[in-house]
Amino acid sequence: MKAITVTDPDAGTAGMRLTDRPEPTPAENDVVVRVHASGFTPGELTWPATWTDRAGRDRTPSIPGHELAGVVTELGYGTTGLGVGQRVFGLADWTRDGTLAEYVAVEARNLAPLPADIDVVTAASLPISGLTAWQGLFEHGRLEAGQSVLVHGAAGGVGSVVTQLAREAGAHVVGTGRTADRAAALDLGAHEFVDLGADELGAVGPVDLVLDVIGGEIGDRSIDLVRPGGTFVTVAEPPARQPERGRAVFFVVEVSRPQLTELARRVREGRLRTRVAAVHPLTEAVEAFNPTGRVAGKTIIRVTPQEG
Ligand SMILES: NC(=O)c1ccc[n+]([C@@H]2O[C@H](COP(=O)([O-])OP(=O)(O)OC[C@H]3O[C@@H](n4cnc5c(N)ncnc54)[C@H](OP(=O)(O)O)[C@@H]3O)[C@@H](O)[C@H]2O)c1
Repeated sequence: MKAITVTDPDAGTAGMRLTDRPEPTPAENDVVVRVHASGFTPGELTWPATWTDRAGRDRTPSIPGHELAGVVTELGYGTTGLGVGQRVFGLADWTRDGTLAEYVAVEARNLAPLPADIDVVTAASLPISGLTAWQGLFEHGRLEAGQSVLVHGAAGGVGSVVTQLAREAGAHVVGTGRTADRAAALDLGAHEFVDLGADELGAVGPVDLVLDVIGGEIGDRSIDLVRPGGTFVTVAEPPARQPERGRAVFFVVEVSRPQLTELARRVREGRLRTRVAAVHPLTEAVEAFNPTGRVAGKTIIRVTPQEG
């Protein structure tokens, strides 16, 4: 099968190749999926899991990309809950071969059925942003109606979903980002927007919840904006300190079929949208992974020319 592979952690995107790899075989409780659309995260070549398995053993050549939408072609020993021919979407394991390939083997529990009226490009853009936003707001942030949320990077992949979910949950949403992000953040549902390059971040708050995707000095300063009893949730890096009389949580997103299903339901109902900036074929995946110009939003690789 055609796949994008990486073999050298020091080579960065210069080491990415479109190659031929053996088709995967399903392990217990796996399915094999014919990948129709794949989503990747630009930073994943720096993640240890891209290079080693859970035991820390070298697993190169490895296939990057983790989000997928496609059709089940094979079931592993003992797999239940999904069937051959079923449309699915979800997230491949961080420490196994990924989705920038024609086929991928994934644990069935990491996938959810994909409704017929959601296209594969939209579906492949949803898992990481959607699950991270959901878990950040409702599991780790314990958001309730009437609370206030500071959403960093509100026009970005994670932030755009956070903004929509928080608004619908009845929160007061303060989005942040660059000057050019203002219109998008307000359009997604933010009540207010803070331009991190021009406005005073300290003028915000106190807020019940901060959801940080930026980290560094911006993340650190935001800890002081959490009101007593509130929470600082970050996916950027472990926070250096806790808010005074509040909680700080750093987490790595996990797959949940019920949450994927709920996110898909909201997409179908027109209550949730993702920001897909570009769609490229697998033959252009190396170039797309290493863009010369920045694109705001998610880049999706359309592995099959049309849905099958
Ligand atoms: N731990 C986890 O499980 C997890 C899960 C998902 C994502 N993440 C991480 O979270 C981060 C964000 O992911 P994403 O997909 O949302 O990325 P993204 O689409 O690039 O969104 C980030 C947004 O924040 C903006 N931004 C970044 N730095 C800024 C600054 N200094 N001032 C103003 N705006 C700034 C970006 O603007 P520009 O594009 O103009 O820089 C962009 O709009 C990534 O590092 C990703 O790896 C972690």
